[in-house]
Amino acid sequence: MRILLTGVAGFIGWKTAEFLLKDDYEVTGIDNINDYYDIRLKEYRLSKLKPFKNFRFIKGDIENHEFLKEVFEEAKPQVVINLAARAGVRASIENPHIYYTTNVMGNLNLLELSIKYNVEKFILASTSSLYAGQKMPFKEDLAVNTPISPYAASKKSAEVTSYTYYYLYGLNVIVLRFFTVYGPASRPDMAPLRFLKWMYDNKPVTIYGTGDQSRDFTYIDDIVRGIIMSIEKINGFEIINLGRGKKPVSIIELIHKYEALLGKKAHIVFKAPNKADMESTWADITKAKSLLGWEPEVYIDEGLKRTVEWYLKEGKDIGFEL
Ligand code: NAD
Ligand code: UGA
Repeated sequence: MRILLTGVAGFIGWKTAEFLLKDDYEVTGIDNINDYYDIRLKEYRLSKLKPFKNFRFIKGDIENHEFLKEVFEEAKPQVVINLAARAGVRASIENPHIYYTTNVMGNLNLLELSIKYNVEKFILASTSSLYAGQKMPFKEDLAVNTPISPYAASKKSAEVTSYTYYYLYGLNVIVLRFFTVYGPASRPDMAPLRFLKWMYDNKPVTIYGTGDQSRDFTYIDDIVRGIIMSIEKINGFEIINLGRGKKPVSIIELIHKYEALLGKKAHIVFKAPNKADMESTWADITKAKSLLGWEPEVYIDEGLKRTVEWYLKEGKDIGFEL
């Protein structure tokens, strides 16, 4: 099966490509390699994909309709997985426009071309941050009309526009709402890799707020299995949570877990809370279990152990900055 995967040099895109390539899918990956965070991590991830014969990387921007048209014409994808995005919750306050041009207009370009080139299925990455203000654990049928960051608002727009393309043209659309994903070579703007690098380098760890805020941290391999199951198992229009689905772990607890794994104490500096931050996230994963047969397999302690092992073996030598 031919897949077009956007954001392939990103954290989730890279791992998704790796799993697909091992399963013999034909993957065309695109990414604009922007410098929102240190591109050495993106280059590292792409270097791991290069050896696969069934992989092709094309550098380009999903905001560029002409570029995308050529890619669709040549790659003839049966499935489009749109993981390319501006994804920083707090950073979206600083530069909201780019969040809309990429996450909304870029997604619209991909939807339009998916209709034009007879794509069978469209998968959109969405976010747990849409559930701000709702009762936990979060269920997919909650009304999510009060996003508290431009990032979350842009993903809501992408979700509803994707629905319109399902309604008008019968495009199969699966919206996957991921919950704070972590693991080897994750994003350096997010707490898990940031805290690990700071602690390894004996630098102060900055916490926004009290550190009591908590997340349903979800291990990357579990997320990727969920993405691949949704290619293989369902049609129509569905919104599905992919999260660990257990009592969330606080930011302070995350630091304590690293202290145990690294055998050192963190030096914590507390800063003002950020207004775009959610207090807690927790996925109800009943729907993923029943529709996909998906079940997360990696507990936080095991996931962090694998992350630290990767960092000590390879990650620290990539030379990326925060
Ligand atoms: P990431 O930033 O590591 O990956 C996104 C990739 O998209 C980057 O490599 C970037 O260069 C690329 N990109 C950005 N704008 C582009 C454009 N205009 N054209 C082409 N490429 C572009 O982020 P990630 O954590 O891998 O997230 C992947 C997707 O999952 C995003 O849609 C994000 O919103 C969503 N998501 C992530 C998480 C998480 O915890 N990591 C949780 C929920 C949802
Ligand atoms: C993450 C991703 O960044 C989003 O792309 C994704 O959509 C979202 O998860 C999701 O679950 O859908 P976020 O929860 O903000 O967003 O993840 P982190 O950046 O890891 O932050 C988690 C918490 O740690 C936040 O409260 C944040 O303020 C805090 N934090 C983060 C710090 O205290 N210090 C830091 O240096 C970084």
